[in-house]
Amino acid sequence: QFMKKPTNEPILDYKKGSTERKALEKALEEYASKTIDVPLVIGKERITRKLEHEQVMPSDHKHVIAKYTWATEDDIKHAIETGLEAREKWHMKTLKERADILLHAADLCAGKYRMALNATTMLGQGKNILQAEIDAACELIDFFRFNAYFALDLEKYQPISTKASKNSMLYRALEGFVAAIAPFNFTAIGGNLASAPALMGNVVLWKPSDTAVLSNYIIYQILEEAGIPPGVISFLPSDGPVFGNTVCDHKHLAAINFTGSVPTFKYIWKRVGENLDKYVSYPKLIGECGGKNFHFIHPSADMDSVAPATIRSTYEYSGQKCSACSRIYLPESQWETFKEKFSAIHKQVKMGDVRDGSIFMSAVIDSKAFARIKKYIDAAKSGTDGAKIILGGKCDDSKGYFVEPTLIQVTNPESKILTEEIFGPVLTAYVYPDSEVESVVRSIKDATPYGLTGAVFSGDKDFLYKARDILRDAVGNLYLNDKSTGSIVGQQPFGGARMSGTNDKAGGPHYALKWSSPQTIKETF
Ligand code: SER
Repeated sequence: QFMKKPTNEPILDYKKGSTERKALEKALEEYASKTIDVPLVIGKERITRKLEHEQVMPSDHKHVIAKYTWATEDDIKHAIETGLEAREKWHMKTLKERADILLHAADLCAGKYRMALNATTMLGQGKNILQAEIDAACELIDFFRFNAYFALDLEKYQPISTKASKNSMLYRALEGFVAAIAPFNFTAIGGNLASAPALMGNVVLWKPSDTAVLSNYIIYQILEEAGIPPGVISFLPSDGPVFGNTVCDHKHLAAINFTGSVPTFKYIWKRVGENLDKYVSYPKLIGECGGKNFHFIHPSADMDSVAPATIRSTYEYSGQKCSACSRIYLPESQWETFKEKFSAIHKQVKMGDVRDGSIFMSAVIDSKAFARIKKYIDAAKSGTDGAKIILGGKCDDSKGYFVEPTLIQVTNPESKILTEEIFGPVLTAYVYPDSEVESVVRSIKDATPYGLTGAVFSGDKDFLYKARDILRDAVGNLYLNDKSTGSIVGQQPFGGARMSGTNDKAGGPHYALKWSSPQTIKETF
């Protein structure tokens, strides 16, 4: 019944001339040379209609890689009915039968579809090869395998039986349907949001992000090929409010599995609250929202590791990981050293088209993101809050949505640029007097409403553990002497505290349990 603990999928290195590099280049060429019509999928139907929406390449925005239709309110209601019908059989299958489908999907991702997942994530979401591989291949595969493993493991946890009664717990599905609302920044997150509830016997309405429609559709097809029956997962690109309102207003809403912005998640909570009298059961709301993640540098920190770790955390994928570092606290005594080491690496950061295998980062996702990030950079350029641009600062959207990796210094610890989420390649530095090290660590938590990730760098172990204790409530994922990004499924279960989310730890041993409403059965002899 139980399965052997999986190992994390190895990252392929795509060396120039290697078989995998050639295969990836072929897939990139193929997906860049056509526009794919992505349908809505409800049960056995594939609906294409007008295809009025386009997914473009962020690094070359004239280039349309996919066209798609938004689901209407009627489509969404139809998907709910189809799902509830499919639920009848799906939730009665054994967990093992459902887990086997996910394990099959993992194998399809690791082999046959690896290049399609990577190529569409690169072209559509602006990732370089390494960033695509760790997301669309490895993390997705890991989610499928580890969720299956952890879910099967749950069955070990049974109540105590006595001579008088056999007591057991059935990890049954939630009653109703689950709505999965996915982000653009991790292809794997879309796959996880939809497949983990399905693993536990739920039926799911999957709304992909408009800017990740193609890669998410490939995952949908993989799940279908792996054996997810029609109706269990509906694939529904849609307008956010239409989708959100339709699912929140339905009496059979069982749960929302959300990754996206804080305002949208708060909107969902309010809407669900207004509808409470309508529901058959209380919907579970599980959300992973934004962050304003920090690197805190102690005077004793090894600056040779701080500089590259901060470059990676801040600028990899143009700062669009929810875990990306966007504020750094540096002691006066290390500020000059930091600037010197940081700018030496910064000079080598290459930005460009995703098809250029040597780039470190590409364009940001779309025109809205470009405008938002530019607004913060422009404010810094004009010296708002005493801000000063130290490195980068150029923005150019003529071909793609390119924003240079930027470093800004502020003197006001409450300045917007230090406390608001920017979600782009912008790092804001606050330089503190060495003598105030402890009070500055204490101030980090309440400097923003977020609590996703943070990192403390120190050569002094006592300080490191003291900071860990001070920051106990501050973040969901804390790193000691490592960058704030790059959690690995099974190793660092991921999720944010405070306004960053409900901290349900994707990739962790208890994640599957969130999608279950266990039934306790007492059998009397
Ligand atoms: N899990 C990712 C990271 O840790 C973010 O979603 O970088």
